[in-house]
Amino acid sequence: MELRLSRDEIVENYRDELTDAEIYAALARIENNSKLREELLKLSQYETGHAEFWKNIASQVGIDVSNVKPSKFSVIYSVLIRRLFGLGFLVKLRESAEVEAIRRYGEMVRRKALGPYTDRLREILLDEVSHEEVFKEEESRFEAFIDNIRDAMYGMSDGLVEVLAAVAGLAPVVADPMLITLAGLIVGTAGTLSMAVGATCQQRPRGTLGKPCYRK
Ligand SMILES: [Fe+2]
Ligand SMILES: [Fe+2]
Repeated sequence: MELRLSRDEIVENYRDELTDAEIYAALARIENNSKLREELLKLSQYETGHAEFWKNIASQVGIDVSNVKPSKFSVIYSVLIRRLFGLGFLVKLRESAEVEAIRRYGEMVRRKALGPYTDRLREILLDEVSHEEVFKEEESRFEAFIDNIRDAMYGMSDGLVEVLAAVAGLAPVVADPMLITLAGLIVGTAGTLSMAVGATCQQRPRGTLGKPCYRK
């Protein structure tokens, strides 16, 4: 069989699919949301099917892949990200992995690297596109959460700059450390109130901008 793909590429693709299958299975095991758990198990089954395809290609060209195992590091890393940072971050991570698979398989289909197996590879490519769609849907549900984190980071850096600038400016001219501490607290409180009012106004729906944002 004439393939325009190196042995290493075949083994790499097989390992990547095995790893993806293992990642989704591991994520399903720790998922509390039953609907999402079902989606993850389905994704794992798809990736197992893709791994079988590469195993078959490998055997056709005489490559023994019985010793190839999924990347444990990637599986543990994904589970850790899920546990530490929640689903929002994990969705971003998995979406980029699926996009990379789409790019790689798309390029192989375009140059017919798998000869007579190109049609099956095209089907696998479509599977990967549908996986990416699953994560896009999940991502849109987490957009508000990600926006809140962004606002919190922005608020923290802004608040630190304000307080540090005020304290640094007062330190050379005010001798009493208690007064400097008090000034820092006042600046910090004023900054917090200002940021809170700004964020509230930003959340208001369009068409209500002419009305005061602090009164119904
Ligand atoms: Fe796959
Ligand atoms: Fe996939």
